[in-house]
Amino acid sequence: MWPLVVVLLLASVRCGSAQLIFNVIKSVEYTLCNQTVVIPCFVNNVETKNITELYVRWKFKGENIFIFDGSKRMSKPSSNFSSAKITPPELLRGIASLKMDKSDAVVGNYTCEVTELSREGETIIELKYRVVSWFSPNENILIVIFPVLAILLFWGQFGIVSEYSAKNASGLGLIVLPTVILILLHYCVFMIAMGMSSYTISILILQILGYVLSVVGFSLCVSECIPVHGPLLISGLGIIALAELLGLVYMKCVASNHRTIQPPKSN
Ligand SMILES: *[C@@H]1O[C@H](CO)[C@@H](O)[C@H](O)[C@H]1NC(C)=O
Ligand SMILES: *[C@@H]1O[C@H](CO)[C@@H](O)[C@H](O)[C@H]1NC(C)=O
Ligand SMILES: *[C@@H]1O[C@H](CO)[C@@H](O)[C@H](O)[C@H]1NC(C)=O
Ligand SMILES: *[C@@H]1O[C@H](CO)[C@@H](O)[C@H](O)[C@H]1NC(C)=O
Repeated sequence: MWPLVVVLLLASVRCGSAQLIFNVIKSVEYTLCNQTVVIPCFVNNVETKNITELYVRWKFKGENIFIFDGSKRMSKPSSNFSSAKITPPELLRGIASLKMDKSDAVVGNYTCEVTELSREGETIIELKYRVVSWFSPNENILIVIFPVLAILLFWGQFGIVSEYSAKNASGLGLIVLPTVILILLHYCVFMIAMGMSSYTISILILQILGYVLSVVGFSLCVSECIPVHGPLLISGLGIIALAELLGLVYMKCVASNHRTIQPPKSN
């Protein structure tokens, strides 16, 4: 009697699982930074250990864009999605995720349909594109303001306030890298005005430190798609500006002490 009940129970469990159950993921995003795009598709209740019993079909806008036929061990991407592929060994663990090059990716709703012998199921995942900004608006302002500040403060040491506009700064490198010129000019001003003292040397060292920080920050920002080292770059630029400020204060003090400093003649 009992064995019969167990057999019946087992039979009903098997019949009740005629559907494949998916881990529902509504949408995934990709950005400029993704080299490959993975559209996830996870089946929770794959039972077979044999790839020949599995069949996967990915659809986009009603057309088949990728087919994997386990019985023939054959992957067939459509011409629009030629880089599309799945990983067959992972399919046995229920992973039918579709990988493709970013160049093939198109935003929209993708349907993942998996069949295991007579059991089947499907799920829809929306692929979205997200625009990432390289720096936050605040960071952008600081990156422009610090060098401008540094240049203004530098000119202040000549007793000239020039109008400088970074409106046309066409690239981050164009802002960061030339600040080294400022350091050289600063050095020249110190030499012309009063020669080297331990104070002017410290200012120059501070400025070189700021430059090294901003160049390191800059190269890290350039090598990463999303800059994680923005604060490094910004503090470097800030230090350069600070050194110019200290230089200006120093020049003012020296100038008021010995009225011997002549601004360079501007023909
Ligand atoms: C894009 O890349 C990010 C970060 O590596 C990752 O979390 C995300 O899943 C990727 N998106 C897609 C659709 O592959
Ligand atoms: C998978 O199934 C096929 C056909 O049913 C059979 O020929 C093959 O030996 C099986 N492979 C494994 C690893 O069980
Ligand atoms: C494939 O590309 C052709 C031509 O660009 C287009 O008409 C068709 O809709 C595309 N198919 C899919 C599934 O995107
Ligand atoms: C994808 O499907 C969702 C839900 O049906 C819908 O809200 C969305 O607009 C669709 N996206 C596209 C790009 O068609």
